[in-house]
This record gives sequence, structure tokens and C-alpha cells, in this order.
Amino acid sequence: MSRRKRIVFSMGTRPEAIKMAPVYLAVKASPDLEAILLSTAQHRQLLDQVLSVFGIQPDVDLNLMSPNQGLSEISAKILTETQKVLSSLKPDAILVHGDTATCLFSALAAFYERIPIGHVEAGLRTYDFDAPWPEEMNRRLADPICRWCFAPTERARQNLLREGISEQHIYITGNTAVDGLFLGLEKLGSQPAAIPGLEPGCLDGKRLILVTGHRRESFGVQMEQICRAFRQIIDDNPDCVLVYPVHLNPHVQRPVRQLLGGNSRIFLIEPVEYLPFIELMRRSALIITDSGGIQEEAPSLQKPVLITRRTTERPEAVEHGLAQIVGTQTEAIVSRANRLLTDASEYQQMIATQNPFGDGHASQRIVDILRDTL
Ligand code: UD1
Ligand code: UDP
Repeated sequence: MSRRKRIVFSMGTRPEAIKMAPVYLAVKASPDLEAILLSTAQHRQLLDQVLSVFGIQPDVDLNLMSPNQGLSEISAKILTETQKVLSSLKPDAILVHGDTATCLFSALAAFYERIPIGHVEAGLRTYDFDAPWPEEMNRRLADPICRWCFAPTERARQNLLREGISEQHIYITGNTAVDGLFLGLEKLGSQPAAIPGLEPGCLDGKRLILVTGHRRESFGVQMEQICRAFRQIIDDNPDCVLVYPVHLNPHVQRPVRQLLGGNSRIFLIEPVEYLPFIELMRRSALIITDSGGIQEEAPSLQKPVLITRRTTERPEAVEHGLAQIVGTQTEAIVSRANRLLTDASEYQQMIATQNPFGDGHASQRIVDILRDTL
């Protein structure tokens, strides 16, 4: 009897876990495939929060996070430690996700071990190496060494083709973020859920503005400008409250708490688990964020998004009028947000009827492709 094909899933950060969990679960449910979860734990708390929601546990946990880690430091550790594990597990394939250090350096470790690599969420590009930084470079370097580039959209496929990646390595699957969201919504049910860190009733009768921010290229002045905009928006709109689950990166914690603390309509809370975060998204009137994953999830919840970045590698929502790039200047963010909060017809135009990133079946497509080609 031939042995089941062994697939290692490498993941390390919150968004990778949310978007890889549905693929991992689909492979696990497939009798001819074996799924092994390798956690780099590039994030410790944020990763563990997600894995527990999906009821999954790493088979190998490298536990690599250190406080305020540098890019070279975490990258070198991922490369050397992942290579050791792959050399002993000898899988038939490895799957990596997105644009993180875990993604690129796990892929490189597999390349050195001559293990075929599948890149989930391949082909997203801004063509600007400074934004997102360093993620644009991580994606660009990972794709050419992959056997399977799982492109979420036609645009991502076109980007890969333009870069000379062979057509036979590219598969359009949709984005697994939508699969993750649907799994989360199913677990959450239709009843309102409590949000850790928020007093019961504190959102009642108010419009909720949900915000997040963590991009490295915005650290410093731009992050301060964004925070000033949040404060101004709350001052201008007395019927609104703002909830900000603050990323654990110390470069985010410090300015956010300094600039936004002490306001009775601004709630700074710890990062929340995925299910309460979905609850926050579905209760919100408006989302303002620099997060990639949230841009992909919001259309399925019919929520408009303002993107606090100068560019996005996920332009599909912007092109469909469901999201707007507002940059990082205080005045621009305030004026776009105030307009949406006061102009009902403009707001209504940003409500999605369909999610341009996926339909919730991306994971099954990936599993089918692996089965057919392994
Ligand atoms: C990383 C990814 C980024 C992704 C983001 C998602 C890279 C280079 N960056 O950025 O692409 O969008 O995750 O959130 O891969 N920390 C904790 N506990 C945690 C997580 C982080 O304390 O659970 C703190 C630590 O001090 C850590 C620091 O945050 O050293 C930075 O974490 P790191 O993964 O290097 O960068 P992120 O900014 O989180
Ligand atoms: N998210 C979460 N809790 C939070 C903030 C975000 O579960 O407090 C989820 C969110 O729904 C999305 C993902 O985390 O699926 C996005 O992660 P992040 O913004 O850290 O990374 P990015 O997507 O920008 O790489």
C-alpha cells in the first residue's frame, strides 16, 4: 500500500494561521493526504489565539518569537530551524502562506531540501518595494521557487505571468481568508458575542468605528498622524465610538496608547481572538485599517473599509468601490471618514454584494489540485 502524501504546513503569524487553518483542516479530512503543522511561532500569543479557535495544535513548535525581534534575526532562525525539521520529516510538499518572514524563509528552507513548495495567496503585488515593507519583497522572492502558486484572483495570476512564472505552476483558487471567515461565522452563530476588554453595553446606541494598524513602513510619524486622525474623527462624530485592538508589536503599542489613551469614546483593547474580532467587524459601521486580511474579509460582511496606506496589493476591493485608499495624512483620513459617516448614499455605494477575493471554497480547490498533481 502506498503511503499517504505528507504535506507540511508552515505558519507563524496570526494572518497565516487564519488563512491556512481551513486548508489544513481540508487536507486533514482527506484520507490520502497527511497534514503536519509546523509552527515557527514568529508570533506567540497572536498565533496561539487563532489555533485554539480552530481547535488545532502544532505537531512541531519552533517557538522562535523574541520581544521586538529584528527582521534578520527572526528570518535567520526560521531558515535554519525549519530546514532541520524538513530534513527529518521528508514531506512530499510544503505549503507556505502570504508574505511574512515565516512564508519566505520556510519556502527557502524547503527549496534547499528540494521539497516542492505551494504558495497560498501567491501573486499579490504593489510593485513598490517600500510598501508593504518588507512583505512586497517576501512575496516576489517566494513565487519563483514554488511548484504551485495558488493565486487568489485573476489579477494575481496576471502578475505572476508577467514575471515569467510558467502558466502550469499557477492556479486560481480564491482567497482562503473568505473560507476562514465563513468557518468563523459558523462557529460564532447569529447571537451577539461578548468582546473581551469591553464593558457589556458600551457599544449600545453608538456607531462603531473599528480600527487596526501595524505596518512597519508606517512606524513613527505616519502612525502618529493616523492616531491623530482617529481622535479627530471621534471628536467630530459624537454618536460614534472607536475600538482599537492594539497589535502587540511595541512600535505600535507605545504611540497608540500615548496618543489615544484617556478618551471616553476610544477603547484601546488587547488583540482579540478571531471570533470576537469577527463580532466587532459585523457590528461596525466603518473599518479603518492597514491590515491585509481585514480588506479581504470586510466585503463578505458588507462593511466599507478605509485603507490607511499609500497603496495596496489587494486592489480588487478598491476597484469595486468597496474600499478606499486614504493614505496616512491626518486631514485626508478625517475628511474621508467624516464624509462616509454623514453621507448615507456614498456609504451605501461601498456596501458589497459580492466578495471579489473569494467564495469560501478556495481550500477545497487547493486540496483537489494537490491530489491531482502530487
Ligand atoms: C508580522 C509580519 C507582517 C504581518 C503581521 C501580522 C513579517 C516581517 N511581518 O509583523 O507581514 O502583517 O505579522 O500581524 O513577517 N509580538 C508579541 N506577541 C505576538 C506577536 C508579536 O509580543 O504574538 C511582538 C513581539 O515583540 C515581536 C513583535 O511584536 O517581536 C514583532 O513581531 P513580528 O512578527 O516580527 O512583526 P509584526 O509587526 O507582527
Ligand atoms: N484579527 C483578529 N484579532 C484582532 C485583529 C485582527 O483576529 O484583534 C484578524 C483579522 O480578522 C484578520 C487578521 O487577524 O483575519 C489580520 O491580521 P493582521 O492585521 O495582524 O495581519 P495582515 O492581514 O495585515 O497581514
